[in-house]
Amino acid sequence: MTPPGKFPDGFLWGTSSAAHQVEGDNRNNDWWQFEQQPGRIANGDSSAIACDHYHRYREDFALLREMKQNAHRLSIEWSRIEPSQGEFDSRQIRHYRDVLGELREQGIQPMVTLHHFTSPLWFSAKGGWAAAGAAHAFMPFVHRVIDELGDLIGLWCTLNEPNIYAVSGWMVGEFPPGSKGDVASLYRVLSNMRRAHELAYGAIKRSWPDSSVGLSHHRFLMLPASKHRRDRWAARAAELVLDRWPVAPGQLRNVVDAPSDYIGIAHYWGQMCAFDPRLSKDQFVRRFNVPGVPVTDMGLSADPTWMRLVLNDLRRLNKPVYITENGLATADDEWRQRYLKEILSNVQLAIEDGVDVRGYFHWTTMDNFEWARGYAMRFGLIDVDRKTLERRIKPSGRLYARIAQANSLPLDSAQ
Ligand code: BGC
Repeated sequence: MTPPGKFPDGFLWGTSSAAHQVEGDNRNNDWWQFEQQPGRIANGDSSAIACDHYHRYREDFALLREMKQNAHRLSIEWSRIEPSQGEFDSRQIRHYRDVLGELREQGIQPMVTLHHFTSPLWFSAKGGWAAAGAAHAFMPFVHRVIDELGDLIGLWCTLNEPNIYAVSGWMVGEFPPGSKGDVASLYRVLSNMRRAHELAYGAIKRSWPDSSVGLSHHRFLMLPASKHRRDRWAARAAELVLDRWPVAPGQLRNVVDAPSDYIGIAHYWGQMCAFDPRLSKDQFVRRFNVPGVPVTDMGLSADPTWMRLVLNDLRRLNKPVYITENGLATADDEWRQRYLKEILSNVQLAIEDGVDVRGYFHWTTMDNFEWARGYAMRFGLIDVDRKTLERRIKPSGRLYARIAQANSLPLDSAQ
């Protein structure tokens, strides 16, 4: 039994990041190309130098250590490792060996994501994830990572949020390739990603049977606007779009049912759903923020008690759970501090409910390039001066450090 307020022994305390959002100068991927098109990114931003983490990773990991972290989720940039199809860059492989080695030296366990929203230009030129053969084209990179970096990785995350990726790129048009309402491609992308996950899962387990392999699934909470049947249907329909992917022609399955050793959950927000017969383009669902619940700078409502609901939903799967992402887009760091305590107390309640949560990765380490929203969104526990790139741990980062060190919530946290 874990004493009240404490987290289970060995609980992983980390932050989460993605190569393109922090490294800088990732010129050889589809996002870089997309960013150069006028109007794609808020305020005319582009990832550019980002946080220059590519060169400053030692300094950044020292900050993680100062924040008492024992884990860190990061992604490996495919376009650096395989700049043209079938050609591998040994210098870049060495770079990531240094990065992972440095983390280990600092006593920080890496969780490594193989695909976090960016693909090499050669891959996107052939149709990217919507093209037949996409999963097979991804595999030589996966094999290279398995062979050359696998000894440094115990926790693997094959793909980041396939559903958000597919919806943003082929339905909403906020991610490359910027298509809107292309349902046929949406399902092709999801189907190819499902295949890629299965292939990668099998390949990693064959080489590293003791490693733990999963993917990060974005869980957006859809709440019915009323008890009325049609609103419950609307919430369910909205959930289906975001939680299911095709496993065979005409057959959809929940993403969390994919082969995996753990369930990775990214949870940030929720909205209400009402049936609206006028909205045929949106599957007859009107979504809106939950009245009375604070809205983050991303424009979506976020209530920390939802985390417990999301986690309890996974109990039936009887698998370890890692919260691969959770955080708040706000410049109000006091709100972030309150939110952190509330979220973690809800994680604790879910653990008491019987969900086997093994770790929490806060999104994100430092303020970074928030895709189409640019640099205006501030999710970080560390502030980055955009002119000098100087880092400064925010009060929320200090609070997180105290929690991680004690493996427990502060005594004043509401339960
Ligand atoms: C993505 C991150 C992103 C975060 C905040 C997640 O869906 O994995 O890359 O920065 O949400 O929007």
